[in-house]
Amino acid sequence: MTARLSATYESKPAETTLKYTTKQIAELFPDLMQIKDGELRDKVAAVWNEALTTGCGGKGWTFDELRAVPFTLLAGDIDLTFIDHLNSCCKQCIAIAKVLRECFGDRIPVNLDYLIAGSLLADCGKPLEFDKDKNGKVIKGHFGEMLRHPFSGVAMCYKHGIPAEVMHIVATHSFEGDPPKVTRSIESIIFHHADFVDFDIAKNLGAKAAKKT
Ligand SMILES: [Fe+2]
Repeated sequence: MTARLSATYESKPAETTLKYTTKQIAELFPDLMQIKDGELRDKVAAVWNEALTTGCGGKGWTFDELRAVPFTLLAGDIDLTFIDHLNSCCKQCIAIAKVLRECFGDRIPVNLDYLIAGSLLADCGKPLEFDKDKNGKVIKGHFGEMLRHPFSGVAMCYKHGIPAEVMHIVATHSFEGDPPKVTRSIESIIFHHADFVDFDIAKNLGAKAAKKT
């Protein structure tokens, strides 16, 4: 007899014991508390629990270790961290949504909860991409060679019941979401540009630092 799968597009949160509370995760990402839907806020925190405890080649990251991770491994020697970048993008997204609301009103509908959740989760797969070498230097690990963070990010989000609209932001925020194959949602367009404001500036700073050495 063949088992029948129920036809649902909603992922359901997995039963897992979480190491960190939502308030503790908000020590890393204060704007997490701006998500109005408490259930969504807790799910975002659950995904970050997963990333923190399973990243770094399975060794996990402490808060302090994650705070010391550079923004990107692609921009050379810059004084911007990964956590700075996530908080910067989240604040940029909130600011952009406010400006759009002031200028266009309801003609540009933005779901702020989804935007904040997506901005805090877009790079949640990076702690799985990164590992440490023998000297403790942060490098791209084997897992990262196999799966870029938009893929591992969506996998963790699905496990914890994150809505499809938010998983869409995670999946499409980088070049995986470039047209014509994918049409980004409004929230994903906002995050994508905020992300590249930081990334392009990081490359600019990295190039200047390389010239000095
Ligand atoms: Fe990213």
